[in-house]
Amino acid sequence: MPDYDPSQLTDAVLRSFASAPDARTRGVLQHLIAHLHGFVRDADLTLDEWRGAIDFLTRTGHKSGDTRQEFILLSDVLGVSMLVDAINHKSHAGATDTTVLGPFYVGEHRVTPHGSDLAPGAAGVRMWVEAVVGDAGGRPIAGAAADVWHADGDGFYDSQKPGYQLDKPEMRARFVTGADGKLSFRTIVPRSYPVPTDGPVGELLRASGRHAMRPAHIHFVINAPGFETLVTHLFVAGDDYLASDAVYGVKPSLIVGLVPHDGPTWPDGSPSPDRWFQMSYRFALKAKEATP
Ligand code: BEZ
Ligand code: FE
Repeated sequence: MPDYDPSQLTDAVLRSFASAPDARTRGVLQHLIAHLHGFVRDADLTLDEWRGAIDFLTRTGHKSGDTRQEFILLSDVLGVSMLVDAINHKSHAGATDTTVLGPFYVGEHRVTPHGSDLAPGAAGVRMWVEAVVGDAGGRPIAGAAADVWHADGDGFYDSQKPGYQLDKPEMRARFVTGADGKLSFRTIVPRSYPVPTDGPVGELLRASGRHAMRPAHIHFVINAPGFETLVTHLFVAGDDYLASDAVYGVKPSLIVGLVPHDGPTWPDGSPSPDRWFQMSYRFALKAKEATP
């Protein structure tokens, strides 16, 4: 009979996973067990705390579904999402910096004509967004699909609002670049907003004395054949929360200054309000490495 006293237990558990046939599965599980056991030991975890942790994770699962992913949010506020992002994007080779996906990449991103207004009738300061999608050498990429989404002037995504339907997107769309690699749309200037705090992750933030705010941003996921998917945001320069993002997602290269313009027209010649702002950016996609 093995003697599972605390000093031998970790080794016994590690041995029981040592014959996992897949080497990567074996390696990942062995790191997981070593760190998890080390954590329990170092924190001197009580039974009540362990039960509390299981209850927390159970409620995190119950809070997740088609339009809300509390586990992603948990990973985000623990800094794990940005750590996974960092170790998977070690070499940039001139490509745009990446950041968190976040829990609101849901519903439809419908192909939409360039110059469309994503926020008709919404309260807020009007903005024109113009971007070029290119490769790391600056050559434009035609046929790149850019999914964009952002919160409204009150800090809510469409999927957070009562009565939301997956096929009724608001402030989310897909733009496909032409030969010049360009995309453009109109919308409102986004504002800083809190990550959802009505679930277990909110409890965690309150228990830690942390604020829940994210600096104002627009999300982009850009796909083009032959290139790695780019998951990123553009942040609005001057935001109060750029230095203390609740999910650690800000990178200096993604902060964009908005340029003020006076009417009477948008860049496409259509009538504009008296005052609007322009956000401009050049995205660079990283070419996929050839598989041998
Ligand atoms: C977001 O930007 O949509 C987001 C990212 C991480 C956590 C919560 C929200
Ligand atoms: Fe967001």
